[in-house]
Amino acid sequence: MNIQKSKVVIVGAGNVGVSTAFCLINQGLCDEIALIDLNQEKAFGEVLDLSQSIEYMNRNTKIKLGTYDDCQDANIVIITASVPVHDAGNDRLKMLEPTKKVMKTIVQQIMGSGFDGHIIIVSNPVDIMSYYVYKISGLPASQVIGSGTTLDTARLKYFIAQKIQVDPRSVHALVIGEHGDSEMIPWSTVRIGGKDIYSVVKDNADRIGENPYDEMKKDTIQAGWEIFNRKGNTCYGIASSTVGIVKTILHNENKILPVSTLLQGQYGQDQLYISVPAIIDKSGVREIVELHMTDEEMQEFQKSCDHLKSFYDCLD
Ligand code: 2OP
Repeated sequence: MNIQKSKVVIVGAGNVGVSTAFCLINQGLCDEIALIDLNQEKAFGEVLDLSQSIEYMNRNTKIKLGTYDDCQDANIVIITASVPVHDAGNDRLKMLEPTKKVMKTIVQQIMGSGFDGHIIIVSNPVDIMSYYVYKISGLPASQVIGSGTTLDTARLKYFIAQKIQVDPRSVHALVIGEHGDSEMIPWSTVRIGGKDIYSVVKDNADRIGENPYDEMKKDTIQAGWEIFNRKGNTCYGIASSTVGIVKTILHNENKILPVSTLLQGQYGQDQLYISVPAIIDKSGVREIVELHMTDEEMQEFQKSCDHLKSFYDCLD
């Protein structure tokens, strides 16, 4: 009998990698997780700790200390490895040079195993790193996905939900563009319980003010740093967003998520990794959704594209 197992490899056993592993076993999404880190002692400690939580989980997930050979039969490899964020000065793009070097070594080893699954890139600056991994891995773009603004979108929904006082899951909203300062919110597409946000705000102006948009955007952009500057890392939000992408692939859900993916003509852009809504199934990014935005929103999105593109020269 040939029962296919689902296997996820996580590269990087720091806060993000380990929270991602915990979220994966908590949701019982795969049969096996391999954790790879240069610091094998730390990684093995995490493996033991995670393995000993299985009794109270829904599924007996096998967790092991991995090597790059584990990528050979993995469905998904998640790259969370990163250089220290402390010197970034609240700008993820400052991490480009050092992260690029680390990324090259990691991707060479992943591909050296004979891997042919999906790579999810979480390491910052995530949009540029996703393009870089796409280029050096030789994998089709559909199989190289950046976590992008899945996290920013969760944060935006949280802020809107708090303002309007509804469940964030009743908010239909997206953050697109760079996972960083130039990201944008196509407000004209935001719906709350099916009602457009402009009408919601207008009908409740006495309670929430007439123009809460700039504040919510600022809060969304700053959210990561508000956490980082207090606790030295962010992990649960990014872990759950990443696991959201894993679930969509492994369960072949066709869910639409704002991930960093390769634009090839869409939105008037070519050969650029940036977050836009995409339909994701077992093949990875199946299709990019082209939003109908206002001219102003389109201009803001193009600015974010230009900003990211200006860093591509550093990748040679
Ligand atoms: C975050 O936004 C720092 O990119 C990380 O949580």
